[in-house]
Amino acid sequence: MTRSVLVPHLADAMVRVTELAAIAAQKLAGLGDEKSADQAAVDAMRTAFNGVDFKGRIVIGEGERDEAPMLYIGEEVGTGNGPEIDIALDPLEGTTLTAKAMSNALAVLAISPKGGLLHAPDTYMDKIAIGPGYASDVIDLDATPAENVSELAKAAGRPVSSMTACVLDRPRHGDIIESLRSVGARIRLISDGDVAGVIDTTNADTGIDLYIGQGGAPEGVLAAAALKCVGGQMHGRLVFRNDDEKARARRVGLTDFDRKYKLDELASDETVFCATGVTKGGLVDGVIVRNGWTITDTLVMSSADGMVRKINSRHRTS
Ligand code: FBP
Repeated sequence: MTRSVLVPHLADAMVRVTELAAIAAQKLAGLGDEKSADQAAVDAMRTAFNGVDFKGRIVIGEGERDEAPMLYIGEEVGTGNGPEIDIALDPLEGTTLTAKAMSNALAVLAISPKGGLLHAPDTYMDKIAIGPGYASDVIDLDATPAENVSELAKAAGRPVSSMTACVLDRPRHGDIIESLRSVGARIRLISDGDVAGVIDTTNADTGIDLYIGQGGAPEGVLAAAALKCVGGQMHGRLVFRNDDEKARARRVGLTDFDRKYKLDELASDETVFCATGVTKGGLVDGVIVRNGWTITDTLVMSSADGMVRKINSRHRTS
C-alpha cells in the first residue's frame, strides 16, 4: 500500500462535508423545487469546506465562474493550510429525484492530490463501466453494446440472458437499448443518477453487471474516482454538441476531443470518494429526521488503503 496523503484526516472531513450538503438538500425533498434543493446543498457544502485545513481546488464543480457563483470550476476552498487537493463534486446528484422525493439522490464528492482528476468540462460523456474481477479490456467503448455485453457474459461464464445493463432512461439511448436487447441482455432503466449506476456494477447484490450510456462528464469523473477505490473498469469519451462545449473543454486544457479515457486517466492518483444519501437508495440510506436527531448514511472509500466504510451518523438538532 502507498502512503496516503488523504486518509484519515481528509477522509473524515469530507464525510462531514457531504453529510451537511445532504441534510440541507433533504429539507427541500419532495417540494418540487430542484433549484432551491441544489442551492441548499451547494451553500452547505461550501460552508463546510471552508472549515477544512487544506488547499482545495475545485476541478469538477457547479459550472464555470460566470454561471455558478459558488463551487465553480477553479474556486479555491478550505483554510489554505495543508495539502494541495483537487476536488470533484456534485452537491446534489439527482436534483429531480430530490424535488420529487424519489430514491437515490446523493451529495457526492471525490478528492485527489493536485492533478489526480481529469478536469472534465460540463458536457456529456459516453461511458461504459464494469465491476472488479475481469481481465483488463473486456469492455471497450468503441465496441457495440451487444458486443460488450456478450464479451462480458463470456468472461463471467454466464449466458448473455442473465446479464443486466444499467442505462439512463433517455430517448438518446434508443440504439443502445436495441443493441443490448438484440442479444437478449436485460436492462435496468434508471430515471437519473448515473454515479450510483456505475458504482452498482461493483456490488453483486445490485444485479447490475454493466453500466452503459451517455451522462454528465462531471458525474463520469466522480464515478471513476469511486471505481478507483473498489476496482472495476471504465471508459469515458467527452461528447460535444456545439462549439461552445468545445470551448469549455479548451478552457480546462483539453484539446483532443475524440480521446477515449480509461479509468486511470479519469482518476490518475489516489482518491477518496464520499457519498451521503439525500433520499434512500441502494447505495446509502437517505437523511432521516426523527425525535430531535438527524441521521445520515455515508459511503466513504479510499483507493490508497483499500478502505470502504459506511458511516451512520446522528446529528442532534434540538
Ligand atoms: P442532476 O442532479 O444534475 O440533475 O444530474 C442527474 C443526472 O441523472 C446524472 O446522474 C446524469 O449524469 C445526468 O443527469 C444525465 O443528464 P440528462 O438528465 O441531461 O440526461
